[in-house]
Amino acid sequence: MNYRVAAGLIALGVFTAGCSKPADTGASPAATPTGEATFASTVQPIVGQRCAKCHVDDSKGGLSLATLESALAGGKKGAAIAPGNADGSLLFQMVAGTAEKRMPPKGDPLSGTEIATIKAWIDGGAH
Ligand code: HEC
Repeated sequence: MNYRVAAGLIALGVFTAGCSKPADTGASPAATPTGEATFASTVQPIVGQRCAKCHVDDSKGGLSLATLESALAGGKKGAAIAPGNADGSLLFQMVAGTAEKRMPPKGDPLSGTEIATIKAWIDGGAH
C-alpha cells in the first residue's frame, strides 16, 4: 500500500519534471496553464516589477525591455535573447546568476519561479 503510493508519487514526480522541461522543438509544453507563454503574458509583468527602472524607463547597457521587439534587439553586447535557447541567452544567464554580472544588479535576485518563467519563455521561442 505505502509502496504503491510512493511509487505513484515518484512516477508523478518524474512525469512533472519531464513536462516542465521545455522541448527543444520550440513547441514548448505550456508554461502557463492557459497556453503559450508570451512576452506580454509572462515576461512583461516580471520586467515591469524588477527591470523597468533601468530597462523600460531607461535603456541601461543599451537594452530596452519595453517591448518584445526592443527586447529581441538586444543591447550593447548584442542579442540578449536567443529564442529557443535560454541557457545561451545573456538575459537568462544574468537573471539566473550564471553570467559575470547579475540582473537586477541590486536587491534580491528574481525568485526561482520568475527565473523558470523566463527560461520557459525563451526556450519556447521568445514570442
Ligand atoms: C538598477 C538598474 C538595473 C536594473 C533594475 C536592471 N538592470 Fe539590467 N543592466 C543595468 C546596467 C547598468 C547594465 C549595463 C551593465 C554593464 O554593461 O556593465 C545592464 C545590462 C543588462 C543586460 C545586458 C545588456 C547588454 O547588451 O549589455 C541585460 C540582458 C539586462 N541588463 C537584463 C536585465 C533584466 C532582465 C533585469 C530585470 C530582471 C534587469 N536587467 C534589471 C542596470 C539594471
